[in-house]
Amino acid sequence: MRRLLFIFGTRPEAIKLCPVVLYLRKHAPEFDVRVCVTAQHRGLLDQVLAAFEIRPDVDLDVMLPGQTLFQSTSRILAGLEAVLADQQPSMVFVQGDTTTTFCGALGAFYRQIPVGHVEAGLRTGDMLEPFPEEMNRVLTTRLAALHFAATGGAAQNLIGEGIDPATISVTGNTCIDAVLHVRDGLENGTMVSRDWPELDPNKKLLLVTAHRRESFGEGFEQICLALAALAHRPDVQIVYPVHPNPNVQGPVNRHLCDLANVHLIEPQSYVPFVDLMRRAHILITDSGGVQEEGPSLGKPILVMRDKTERPEAVEAGTVKLVGTDRNRIVSEAVRLLEDSEAYQSMARVHNPYGDGHASRRILDATRSFFNK
Ligand code: UD1
Ligand code: UDP
Repeated sequence: MRRLLFIFGTRPEAIKLCPVVLYLRKHAPEFDVRVCVTAQHRGLLDQVLAAFEIRPDVDLDVMLPGQTLFQSTSRILAGLEAVLADQQPSMVFVQGDTTTTFCGALGAFYRQIPVGHVEAGLRTGDMLEPFPEEMNRVLTTRLAALHFAATGGAAQNLIGEGIDPATISVTGNTCIDAVLHVRDGLENGTMVSRDWPELDPNKKLLLVTAHRRESFGEGFEQICLALAALAHRPDVQIVYPVHPNPNVQGPVNRHLCDLANVHLIEPQSYVPFVDLMRRAHILITDSGGVQEEGPSLGKPILVMRDKTERPEAVEAGTVKLVGTDRNRIVSEAVRLLEDSEAYQSMARVHNPYGDGHASRRILDATRSFFNK
């Protein structure tokens, strides 16, 4: 039996690969589907594994507090050598653009194992934004044998770089499989969130997440000042699950911990976080995944970045890039709070990033690869 090894390590990779693992285990009995987590993230990863009830076959447990790129890269690559020798997979699957993604693809390449890259073809065209993810994307593309692009635009990016179109499939993004599954579960009562005693039903909820490396320092100072200014409005409440990275925790706690109307909470498990997104009036974020999930839930999204590799929702008008300038973040949020026409034009349900069936298309393309 052919063995497929899924390698992942951070929260977004887990949210985007766990649905694929579960789908393949259910629908593809010809494959032995194994999971190796690097645990580049520890707590954030374990939350997702618990939510999807997946027990890894291998856990490298590499995370160090405040880890540098050198530390995570070398620890992951060193750990994978023995795993790949031991597991002898027929194909390795990686997702996205993290250090784990790049090291998983590089390790597989060193052993001449074909790599399937999920969420292939995202590009901003700027190697420093997002950093180091844009470089990880480009390098992973060169290392991969099969490219699962979420959108036609991402597939075109790959073709433009000379990737053989026969190796590219447009699948949709697997996080749409995840978010629609949870949305439906919350709506039909088969999934439960948690209680939100901190939420005031009479105030509009601004849901915030932020963690990008290129915003560390001045960018985060500006983001925090913008949120503090918005928190003065009596009609809003801000809920911010704070990423555990010390570069994020520092400024966020310094600027926002004692403000009324601001609820700094722990990173949420996936089901309660989707519930929070459903309850939100506006999503304010720099997250890739939240930018993709928000349109499926019909939420306006202000993206605190200058460039995005996900242009589809910007073009459709439901995502707006607002950068990390304090005044711009405040003015764009106030506009959505006060101008109902502007709000309605951004609050539309649409699915530019997928229809919830990406896992099936990934299986189809994988089967064709082995049947050739
Ligand atoms: C990483 C990815 C980024 C992705 C993000 C998703 C890289 C270079 N960066 O960034 O692409 O968008 O994850 O969240 O791969 N920490 C904990 N517990 C956790 C997770 C992190 O304490 O569960 C803290 C640790 O101190 C850790 C630090 O956060 O050293 C940074 O983690 P790291 O994975 O290096 O970078 P992120 O900023 O999380
Ligand atoms: N998310 C979550 N709990 C939270 C915040 C985010 O489950 O408290 C989910 C979110 O729905 C999305 C993913 O985490 O699927 C995004 O992860 P992150 O922002 O860490 O990384 P990025 O997508 O920017 O790479």
